[in-house]
This record gives sequence, structure tokens and C-alpha cells, in this order.
Amino acid sequence: MTSEISDPREQLEAVREAFAGEFERFGHFLPENTPDALMILLGKKSEGPGSFRPEGAGPAGPSLAGEAEMNLRALVELRTRHTGRKSALAGLKKMIGRLAPDERAAFGQSVQQLESQILAQLDEAESRLKAYADSARIERERIDVSLPGRRPRRGHLHPITIMRQRIEDIFVAMGYTVEDGPEIETDFYNFDALNIPPTHPARSPQDTFYTSDGLALRSQTSTVQIHAMQRRRPPLRVIAPGKVFRRDTPDATHNPMFYQVEGLLIDRHVTMAHLKGTVSEFVRRMFGPSARTRFRPSYFPFTEPSAEFDFSCFKCGGTGCSLCKGSGWIELGGSGMVHPVVLRSVDIDTDEFSGFAFGLGIDRMCALMYNLDDIRLLFENDIRFLEQFN
Ligand code: FA5
Repeated sequence: MTSEISDPREQLEAVREAFAGEFERFGHFLPENTPDALMILLGKKSEGPGSFRPEGAGPAGPSLAGEAEMNLRALVELRTRHTGRKSALAGLKKMIGRLAPDERAAFGQSVQQLESQILAQLDEAESRLKAYADSARIERERIDVSLPGRRPRRGHLHPITIMRQRIEDIFVAMGYTVEDGPEIETDFYNFDALNIPPTHPARSPQDTFYTSDGLALRSQTSTVQIHAMQRRRPPLRVIAPGKVFRRDTPDATHNPMFYQVEGLLIDRHVTMAHLKGTVSEFVRRMFGPSARTRFRPSYFPFTEPSAEFDFSCFKCGGTGCSLCKGSGWIELGGSGMVHPVVLRSVDIDTDEFSGFAFGLGIDRMCALMYNLDDIRLLFENDIRFLEQFN
């Protein structure tokens, strides 16, 4: 082997130089535990202080903690290469026993000294690098508890919800409770119990969407009249706001899904006068004390007599304007005295009880209230539109 042939002292110096050469980059490491020392260690001195980035990995490269850890791994490799079992230093140690006895002691001592030096340098550099890696990591993970928090962006109610809550407040103050009902119904609740038999022409304007097993998306909140009368016995006063569905082509005043609110009162000796008084009071509380109401004869299969009701235009006060199309009146909804057939379908004694019902469309009321020229705006979810109701 060449190591046995060449001079052991020369070999020892070669090992010392090889280590010194490779350790040089770690040898720049200063004993002072300062960011400057860390920069030198990380080879950033020439980049100037501006390049010292105490936090996170930016586009320019890994973070300080990351670089310190990379250097630490390089140092561990260096240790294995120069002090491991297959290292040149190990070769020197094996060589000691093969030397002549008079050379052995002195050479052995030199090898030992070199080994101690190498190990001391490696240990020193490693412990400082570890300390830097730790402090860089702590710096990166530090949380400044004095920084003000990020304010969450607060949402607000949808205009339909604002409207629904106003309607609910008015009726709850008049002694009504708010009732809920399913949006998917059988034909019984959507049509039959409301006195609309299968061949009745009233089914076509209220044509709706059906599931494959024959259930219908309710086309009016009048379905809740039946549920409410089945759930409770009279006397009762309920309102039922909710979504309804119709096969209507969307336009400025129609949507295939919209909101209605139903009202139902069943008691003894209820007359049309109670219906007119209740609806007129609602209109005054909703649109102001000067708002007037009028009833026009109409037809609904589940009420008899039936009437549609309008209120005096809140914009022109009844003289006629673009909002009310010159008529001075704005249409609000349908109403009437609950048909005896409907009462009997839920086993209510029509000799003892009578009642009235009414229904109005929330979307169109909302459009009136906020002067919207198209109810489709309410469902387009354009944030610029919705933000105006904050
Ligand atoms: C009814 O739905 C009856 N159930 C109302 C009723 C209840 C009468 C109780 C008697 C007793 P009508 O089909 O007219 O009635 O609808 C009521 C309201 O829903 C209308 O005045 C209108 O404001 C609204 N509306 C109807 N179709 C649409 C639609 N496609 N898009 C938006 N709103 C609609």
C-alpha cells in the first residue's frame, strides 16, 4: 500500500491539510454568537447586511434556519469522512502498530493530537451551528402577540331575509306564531287538500317541478295551512314564510324559485272584516300610516270568497307614477275566507269555526321596497349589489 511505502509523517500532514481544507468554510465561524457570525458562517457576508432575512424562506432561497441545518448536515458528513472507520485518520492509527518501535510512540502521540484537534474543531463548530439553527428556528416561529389581529370580514343579511324578518315581526306583534312546512310535498298537500282536484285548471298556472317518485316541490306556501291545521286545533293564528317553486320562465317579475309568506287565522265568528282589518294593519305597519289597502274580487280554489289586495303606491301616494304604472295601486297578494271543503279535509267543524287566509310574494315586495327593477338581481349573488343592503 502506498501509505506504508511513503513517509508516515508526510501522510499525517496530508491528513491534517485535507481536513483543514474542507473545514475552512466552517472555520470562518466566529465564536461570538451574533447574527454577523451567522452570516459569515452561511457565506452571506459579501451580500451585505440587507440580505440578512431573519424569517421564512423567501424566493431568494431557504431560510436562515434551513441554511444552518444544511450546514449542520454537511458538518456531520465531514466528521464521518475524516474521523470514521474508513477515514485517512483511521488509516494513520492502523499504521502506528506497523512502525518500528522507536518511532511508534512519537508518531502515535502525533496521530492522537491530530485526532483531538480535529474532533475539538468539529465539536465546537457543531455546537455553535446547532445553537444558531435553534435560534433561527425560534425567530422564524416567533409570534408577535402585540400585533393587532386580522379583523374578520362581517357579512350581513340578504335583502329577502331582511324583508321576511320585518314581515314576521309585524305579525308576531299581532299574536301570530311562525310555522314551518316541507318544501317537497305530496299532491295531497299541494293540490288535493286545497280543493284543487287533478283536472282542475288552477293546477296549470301553479305547475311545479316533480321528483321521479311523484313528489312535488310546493308551488305555494298555502300547503302549510293544511299542516298547521293538522298539527294544532283551532283557534289558531299562524304565518308561514318559505321558498316555493313554479315552472315560470325567469323575467323581471318572475323567478322559478321565490319566497311567499302565508297567513292563516281560524276561530269562531271570523268574517271578511277581520281579514280586511288584519291586511290593512299589516300594510300600514309595513309601508307607513298613510298607506291604504283595497280588495278586488278574485278566485282561489281554497278560499271563498276570494280577493286580491293592493296597497296605495308608496312613491306617489296614489296619484300615479312609473312605479305603480300610473294606477296609484300596487298588487300585494291573494286572500279570502278559508273554503269549507278545506276545513272539512282536516276535520274542522265548519258550523263552529271559520277563518281567513292570505299569501304574498316576498321577492316582489322586496323589489318594491328597495326600488329594484328586476327581481332576478336577488338571486344573482353579485356582491356589488348585495353589499348595498349592509
Ligand atoms: C298564491 O300563491 C296563493 N297561494 C295566495 C293565497 C294564499 C290566496 C291564501 C288566498 C289565500 P299567487 O299565485 O297569486 O297566489 O301568488 C302569490 C304571490 O306570489 C304573487 O302576488 C306574487 O307576488 C308572487 N309570485 C307568483 N309567481 C311568482 C314568480 N314566478 N316569481 C316571483 N314571485 C311570484
